[in-house]
Amino acid sequence: MTEATTTARHSLWSEAIPHGRFPALTGETSVDVAVVGGGITGVTTALLLKRAGLRVALVEADRVGSGVSGNNTAKVTALQSTMYSTIEKKHGADAAADYANGNVAAVERVAALASEEGVECELRRMPAYTFAFDESELSSIEEEATAAIKAGLPVSRDRGELMGVPFPVAGAVRLDDQLLIHPAKYVRGLAEIVDGEGSRVFEGSRVQRIEDGKPARVHTDGGTVVAERVVVATHYPILDRGLYFARLEPMRSYCVAVTLKSGTPPTGLAISAGSPTWSLSRSGDLLIVSGRSHATGSSPGEPYDELAAFAREHWDVGEVTHRWSAQDPTPYDNLPMIGPYTPGSTTLYGATGFMKWGLSNGTMAAELLTDLIVGRSNSLTERFSPHRMTLGATPKLAKLNAKVAVDLVGDRLKRAEVDSVAEVPVGEARVVRDGSGKAGVYRDEAGGVHGVSLRCTHLGCLVRFNPAERSWDCPCHGSRFDVDGSVLEGPATKPLPRRDPA
Ligand SMILES: Cc1cc2nc3c(=O)[nH]c(=O)nc-3n(C[C@H](O)[C@H](O)[C@H](O)COP(=O)(O)OP(=O)(O)OC[C@H]3O[C@@H](n4cnc5c(N)ncnc54)[C@H](O)[C@@H]3O)c2cc1C
Ligand code: FES
Repeated sequence: MTEATTTARHSLWSEAIPHGRFPALTGETSVDVAVVGGGITGVTTALLLKRAGLRVALVEADRVGSGVSGNNTAKVTALQSTMYSTIEKKHGADAAADYANGNVAAVERVAALASEEGVECELRRMPAYTFAFDESELSSIEEEATAAIKAGLPVSRDRGELMGVPFPVAGAVRLDDQLLIHPAKYVRGLAEIVDGEGSRVFEGSRVQRIEDGKPARVHTDGGTVVAERVVVATHYPILDRGLYFARLEPMRSYCVAVTLKSGTPPTGLAISAGSPTWSLSRSGDLLIVSGRSHATGSSPGEPYDELAAFAREHWDVGEVTHRWSAQDPTPYDNLPMIGPYTPGSTTLYGATGFMKWGLSNGTMAAELLTDLIVGRSNSLTERFSPHRMTLGATPKLAKLNAKVAVDLVGDRLKRAEVDSVAEVPVGEARVVRDGSGKAGVYRDEAGGVHGVSLRCTHLGCLVRFNPAERSWDCPCHGSRFDVDGSVLEGPATKPLPRRDPA
């Protein structure tokens, strides 16, 4: 068995995330609020709480900004694909208006925080677009424009003239003055402001356990934060309370960044309305294409090749410089879940379910959580309560839970693919017979063999190999593990045990 190898891919923005800037948590630290998770949600919440006069400790498993907040398409916009028509259909026009209000305020909050705190994050104002490739997608555009206007957004209809793409579109909805940022620089810039004057930032500190109480205690392997309140901003919630696991479906998407030999990347933040969805963005002169979404743990196909092929079909592409993927949970009823972690809790809070629009939704969540914690009223509290029950969405809920139930018993149904490690090809993984059980075995390019248990350490579903990312992904709640078993993404907090089949 060879030593650990990391196969995780990262975005171009991750290159701006240093190692070792903030220390790991050791010993015991007492503060007013512990914030678990250093993505845009956790960091913005920590900063707003500090601004409100509270002492905070931000505890991050890896490096601040290394989660989804540093691996996305960098658009901060209140126009989000066909979000308003979707929400209006499920919850009515008032809900769509609340979502619009929260997201418009969040976009402006990002711009204001960057400016007030002097965070250099390459922020640019740009129009955002949802566009129709052809006539078949036009009705979605019409519906979205109508729902967005009803929700109070100043959108207009055009043919994507300002979008700056080299292909014709059948029609588009446009919202001006949205933002393109360097998401990792933004999040890290805010974290720098959080640290100091009685507040602390800790990195490399995975929270293993949270004891609710007065005070609450947040434990990592190295230390403990004692706090009156705890905000769980771990993206997918790590605590098995509040029934989150039953109501969220993690969806994974892929991105490529490419150089252009001629022409320019889009001058608008563009996303297509149909299926499959193509999302277009940029970083400097690099074109970014994103899409190929699938439920985490299901087969991804060849996403990177398909994204690069799309770029080549429409642009004069030089080389693919970066490939990365990330996931975001979609709630069963398509509204973010923000508020007390369990009904009525005044110690434990959480925020999740941003449906791939968390740069604004995570900022909105930070505003809402701060208001809840400092006792300010906020008109959006009830709308985004994690404990709402949307009756119209119960079939989707039942489907999600049926899928998880199948994966929990799947071990007995799943067969070994090969009988011995010798049969595992280089650069691939197989389910290998391991005595009376099974193990997941990956063979790296140097011939080294990495065997792990297939049983997810979160709640025990069976992990599947994702060949595009070379990771073991859990279909139930989206935990992901490196080929050596270490946790790439929660809610799991413990690695997959190593296995050494013959
Ligand atoms: C492909 C893709 C493209 C996207 N593009 C956009 C976009 O253009 N615009 C937009 O608005 N949104 C976009 N999103 C969504 C957006 O990036 C996310 O919704 C948002 O970043 C989530 O922020 P977060 O802070 O909740 O999570 P994260 O950024 O993932 O932060 C959570 C942090 O918690 C840490 N953590 C986890 N477990 C523990 C633990 N046990 N202890 C301590 N720390 C822990 C993680 O390491 C991580 O750093 C995209 C999503 C995807 C998948
Ligand atoms: S993520 Fe919950 S069982 Fe795997």
